[in-house]
Amino acid sequence: MSNLPQKVRMFEVGPRDGLQNEENVVPVEIKVGLIDRLTDAGLPAVEATSFVSPKWVPQLADAPEVMAKIKRKPGVAYPVLVPNRKGLDGAIAAGCDEIVIFGAASEAFSKRNTNCTIAEGLARFGEVCDEALKRGMRVRGDVSVCLGCPYDGEVAPAQVTAVARELYAMGCYEVCIADTIGVGTPGKTRAVFEDAARYIPVEKLAWHFHDTYGQALANTYAALECGVAVFDSSIAGLGGCPYAKGATGNVATEDVLFMLEGLGIETGVDMAKLVEAGRFICDFLGRPTGSRVAKALMAKAA
Ligand code: HMG
Ligand code: MG
Repeated sequence: MSNLPQKVRMFEVGPRDGLQNEENVVPVEIKVGLIDRLTDAGLPAVEATSFVSPKWVPQLADAPEVMAKIKRKPGVAYPVLVPNRKGLDGAIAAGCDEIVIFGAASEAFSKRNTNCTIAEGLARFGEVCDEALKRGMRVRGDVSVCLGCPYDGEVAPAQVTAVARELYAMGCYEVCIADTIGVGTPGKTRAVFEDAARYIPVEKLAWHFHDTYGQALANTYAALECGVAVFDSSIAGLGGCPYAKGATGNVATEDVLFMLEGLGIETGVDMAKLVEAGRFICDFLGRPTGSRVAKALMAKAA
């Protein structure tokens, strides 16, 4: 186990990736309550919302109110998704200091998610990134559909690497490789990582797994063995992507934490508080948690 990282940075995406996928818009106070509980649990990064077109993602149209009402805990990052200049202006006005730009590894997904080709998207993100860096903001780059695309099917590792390299070259402090529809397996995870790692240092790479086919923890372990030490996850396993039908939520944060604790890897996250944050949002949504660990811990406590 000596090649596993000693510490992992858990990057929570539930308030954004999770709540963007809810049929009904979750009220601002609930979003704020969730974000504040997540930071109170010790998560170092909570992706709070998106400054995207409300015509495309009405669920997050309240981004400015959410950013105004959360308690900003010192040392915690509150990244927000930004697709274009208009989104950047919104994020600046809301006092955000970290943005996420998001490209795709397949043409069909780029078109469905951002209404442009991969190249057009990268050109747009390049301008957004330059302006954000000039203002002293931090910029993260996500690459979607890296282990398979709902429209184009197979995605070659070289397609992922090409987009990841561009985002890194623009000045992203980290590039996150995403399995948007959760079709990846550990071998494919490793192959995509190894190709990207020929050009991008391992400490600049993160992973984002969805658990549609139940492979997310196995994939997380494969990435840990490659030395990756930053992982996205979603409280209670909330989420999906409105432009990837059938994709379930991200791997649950509680489940990732349980595995990391079992491996003796430090995160700074408190399991009991995390489970309470999950209970809070699931009570509001009126459905059971998607986290196996939260379910087990709540049953044990009852
Ligand atoms: P478009 O329709 O080509 O853009 O969409 P447009 O410039 O023609 O604008 C259309 C309307 O939206 C206009 O309003 C704009 O002003 C407005 P109108 O004039 O018709 O009244 N608009 C905006 N309003 C607020 N903020 C903005 C903004 N931009 C335009 N930023 C666009 C192009 C990129 C805007 C659109 O496709 C979009 O917003 N896409 C975002 C989709 C999205 O958020 N998807 C989910 C997140 S990605 C994901 O989940 C994957 C990830 O988790 C990793 C993984 O799992 O793979 C990250
Ligand atoms: Mg996602």
